Amino acid sequence: MTTKLRAIRADITSLAVDAIVNAANSSLLGGGGVDGAIHRAAGPELLQECQSLQGCKTGDAKMTKGYRLAAKHVIHTVGPVWQGGNSKEAELLASCYRKSLELAVNAGLRSVAFPCISTGVYGFPAEPAANIAVKTVREVLHANPGLEEVVFCCFSAGDLDLYQRALQ
Ligand code: APR
Repeated sequence: MTTKLRAIRADITSLAVDAIVNAANSSLLGGGGVDGAIHRAAGPELLQECQSLQGCKTGDAKMTKGYRLAAKHVIHTVGPVWQGGNSKEAELLASCYRKSLELAVNAGLRSVAFPCISTGVYGFPAEPAANIAVKTVREVLHANPGLEEVVFCCFSAGDLDLYQRALQ
């Protein structure tokens, strides 16, 4: 089974995939951006489950149910805050994609959608982030053929363009 990798422009909360990935913060107690959108769409039970998780380290990922979302699960990952590029930001961002997919593979999920992790509030430059995302996902999928589809869910036209070029 060769996994389908594709980039789309959409609101990630609308995607009926097995899991959507949330660009969370280490408290896992919600926030703005895609985190806020996911919590609003999932409803209050998501926060209740998150409160039982005792947070999440940068570069790590934890999975919850999706509740009122179209997606069955939410994989919460904490991206690095951009500090100029000399604080292991690239490795930590790659780890977000790797750990999120490992959770999905271990849970037998078939389709996962990612937002552009760390490129909003956390300030990671969008183009290097897109290249890290595509490279890391390809590496993990090569070692784990069980996943059928990975979607890079871009919110802006500019991000979609970056991902379409990175996927060439
Ligand atoms: N669907 C898809 N992508 C979205 C959506 C949405 N509904 N809303 C925002 N995005 C995009 C942004 O345009 C950006 O490209 O998600 C990407 C990540 O941006 P942020 O949500 O700001 O996430 P991040 O940069 O990782 O910062 C995380 O922000 O919201 C807080 O609690 C969160 O503290 C954490 C920090």
